[in-house]
Amino acid sequence: MNPIPTIIDSDAGIDDAIAIMLAAKLPQLKLVGVTSVAGNVGVDKTTHNCLRVLEFTGMDVPVYRGSAGPMFRQRVDAAFVHGADGLGGMDLPCHTHEVEGIKAWDYIYSEAVRWNGELQLIAIGPLTNLGMAFVKYPGLPKLLKRIVIMGGSASEGNDTPAAEFNIWADPEAADIVFCSGVPVHMCGLDVTMQAHLTPEEIDEIGKIGNPQSKFFRDVVQGILNFLSQFNFPGMHMHDPVAVLYAADDSMFEASTVGVRVETKGALTLGRTVTDLYSDAQWEKNAFIVTKIDRDAFVKKVFELMSKY
Ligand code: RIB
Ligand code: CA
Repeated sequence: MNPIPTIIDSDAGIDDAIAIMLAAKLPQLKLVGVTSVAGNVGVDKTTHNCLRVLEFTGMDVPVYRGSAGPMFRQRVDAAFVHGADGLGGMDLPCHTHEVEGIKAWDYIYSEAVRWNGELQLIAIGPLTNLGMAFVKYPGLPKLLKRIVIMGGSASEGNDTPAAEFNIWADPEAADIVFCSGVPVHMCGLDVTMQAHLTPEEIDEIGKIGNPQSKFFRDVVQGILNFLSQFNFPGMHMHDPVAVLYAADDSMFEASTVGVRVETKGALTLGRTVTDLYSDAQWEKNAFIVTKIDRDAFVKKVFELMSKY
């Protein structure tokens, strides 16, 4: 099967970096570009991180700078989890590529025109760039194959009790995306909280021995330490799940659902409201990924990291 032309939209953070490293070794994905967005940290840092992580993977893929904040709100961040620089303070070789000269949303449209319906977007940060693109280019939905997101949840939240960070950070943009008419494949906390790696598995990845695997092991140590207060079994690989799903969904289960995003609630702002469990059924605008074969997931991560 021909690799799918793909753009990754990222607020490169630690799990984003791992997702990009895995994407580089997935033959099912033809990564044509990466767009940066404010999220885990500010857009200057997420852009810098996208550039240096891509260089570290050996891929020659352009990076386009995106939005410095949500469409209508004040920016929030997750530096308390990902570190002030977004990559846990880790050093990486300096990047030789520079960011491209057009904005992320203009690039997304130009690439969608080029691929004429074949392009997929994998969005692993707040959905601001996609929201901007849909507002600026009303014809964009017909030009996209699908959007795979890491975001949302049919049940609980993480950054608030009701909402997952990527959606909560820009709920209006997220609702625009779900209402765009483009099929959205939602890899939310329902599935990503099943896809943890234990500290022992992470150590074993480091023992693969190549620089990228050692970086994988070292870059997550801060998050592992942060998560230890919650008695989690390890680190949840939120963004890598979305990338692996986009490449091959055979280790996953998904259901068609109707999804809207709460943009007004005092307690529920940013919640992805789905009809997954309700008698009231909505128009189906998304696929919610509900299950992963974790053993297959872990095996695939080891396989891909061993390719460096
Ligand atoms: O809730 C997890 C998501 O928020 C991940 O994409 C992580 O990188 C942060 O952006
Ligand atoms: Ca992310």
